[in-house]
Amino acid sequence: MQALGNANTYSRATVIEYCAGKGRLTEEVCKRCFLQKDRVDAILIDRTRSRGNADGRIPANCTRITADIRDIVIEDLGSVRETSGSCSGLVCAIGKHCCGCAADLALSSISSISASGASQVYCAFALCCHHLCTWETITCRQMLEDEGISDFDFLCMRKLATQARAPTTQGKAGRLVKRALNELRAFSLRSSGIFEDVQLVEYCSSEISPENQLLIARKWVEV
Ligand SMILES: C[S@@+](CC[C@H](N)C(=O)[O-])C[C@H]1O[C@@H](n2cnc3c(N)ncnc32)[C@H](O)[C@@H]1O
Repeated sequence: MQALGNANTYSRATVIEYCAGKGRLTEEVCKRCFLQKDRVDAILIDRTRSRGNADGRIPANCTRITADIRDIVIEDLGSVRETSGSCSGLVCAIGKHCCGCAADLALSSISSISASGASQVYCAFALCCHHLCTWETITCRQMLEDEGISDFDFLCMRKLATQARAPTTQGKAGRLVKRALNELRAFSLRSSGIFEDVQLVEYCSSEISPENQLLIARKWVEV
């Protein structure tokens, strides 16, 4: 939000919403940041089409892509290429309810934006539904393996994560699993050297929801 609040000072800005659903997050973010429609592109990605979407209300040049994140080469999209390649361009990748592996696919997707120009890439993903993470796609898999965690152990962790709202010992273990996976994802992003300022921010109390962490990171695209 802070980066987008200054978006009008960049030469151009592109907002990418992963798992966009109706696109309400982009609508709110663009409106609250008072973005100038003619200088901002919004790309809404979701593999399913939703009725009554917000696309027409978004103050940006809006493009909707109906496809699985894993099938999209994000850097090949015209506005992403032009913004990340331009001097002083801003790419913001956002997602709310990027369930399970969708958040990992989004992180891999945004990591792939190639280095050119002098742009900044920010991302902010609200992490949830850890039971839908997969061994094939989880970004911290190497770290799990380094800790001796197998694909079978990972399945057990996923199962525990489904209990996270229960007021029981299993519930506590489920909440810990979610925390651990988020921390490891953040740690692996930091270690990748691709992102800097990687943080997990609690955006509401864990009593309101055990899914209360937002993963934020910044990536400089060097000249
Ligand atoms: C819980 S909904 C959230 C929708 C919206 N962000 C919101 O908060 O209302 C999750 C959305 O992610 C989409 N999704 C899940 N996995 C995806 C993937 N691999 N590629 C593209 N979209 C995906 C689903 O189609 C669904 O619309």
